[in-house]
Formats: sequence, C-alpha cells, structure tokens
Amino acid sequence: MKQNNFFITTLVFFYFLGIAGFSFAAEKDSETGLIMEKGYELVKETCTVCHTAQLITQNRADRTGWLEMIRWMQDKQGLWELEPEIEKGILDYLSTNYGPLKSFRRPPLDVEWK
Ligand code: HEC
Repeated sequence: MKQNNFFITTLVFFYFLGIAGFSFAAEKDSETGLIMEKGYELVKETCTVCHTAQLITQNRADRTGWLEMIRWMQDKQGLWELEPEIEKGILDYLSTNYGPLKSFRRPPLDVEWK
C-alpha cells in the first residue's frame, strides 16, 4: 500500500505542477491564437483581414524582418499604408512576442565569398 500512496502523491504533484505551468504560460486568443500581450488587439484588427493569424504565429523575425514583411505585403499584396503609430504598435508587438528564436538557429556558415 505504501508504494501505491507514493505513486498517487507523485501523480497529484505533477498534476498541479502542470496546472501551474499552464497558468504561467502566455495566454493566447482563442480565435486567432495570438499571444494576448500589449498591442495584440491592433494586430488582430489589422492583420487578420486578409489571412488568418496563423501566418503570423508560425513566423518569427526581428523588427527589421517584420517590417520587411509588412513592406512586401504593401508592395505586392495590397496592404494599405499603416498609420505610423499603428505600425509602431504592431512592430513592437511582433518583435516582442514573435522575435527570432536564437537558440534554435544554426550558427552562421563560414563562407568565403569570391
Ligand atoms: C491586404 C491584405 C493583407 C493584410 C491586411 C495583411 N496581409 Fe499578410 N499577407 C497577405 C497576403 C496576400 C500574403 C501571402 C499569402 C500567401 O502567400 O499565401 C500575406 C502573407 C503574410 C505573411 C507570410 C509571409 C511569408 O514570408 O511567408 C506574414 C507573416 C504576414 N502576411 C503578416 C501580416 C501582418 C503582421 C499583417 C498586419 C500588419 C498582415 N499580414 C496584414 C495579405 C495581407
């Protein structure tokens, strides 16, 4: 019986650990999957008009990278001019919450350019 108690205690322990871990994780909007942090409404309003937010949540880039994607959509995909304030808010949000994952990147190639 002692063995069994230990097993149940361990189970309960990990169960609560799981709940704690879950509640500390950033909350995501159930509709779009966007992380609900400062600026997220702005992105939800502006960036889910033409495509789902999945294109955003599966992407990662630094501020310059996100700006390039916005410029590319403005150039080629009919995205309108964004108010400077709105663009700044969107870039703040994206670079903070969907910035590059440094630890998953391979080290740069050591290429000799000719
Ligand atoms: C006017 C329509 C429109 C709006 C508004 C729009 N996009 Fe897009 N976006 C597109 C189109 C079209 C594509 C290309 C989809 C495809 O390749 O299937 C795209 C692609 C993307 C991609 C994928 C780029 C890649 O390299 O694969 C990302 C990321 C993205 N959009 C982010 C955003 C963000 C952030 C916003 C808000 C600032 C936004 N989009 C608003 C039209 C739009």
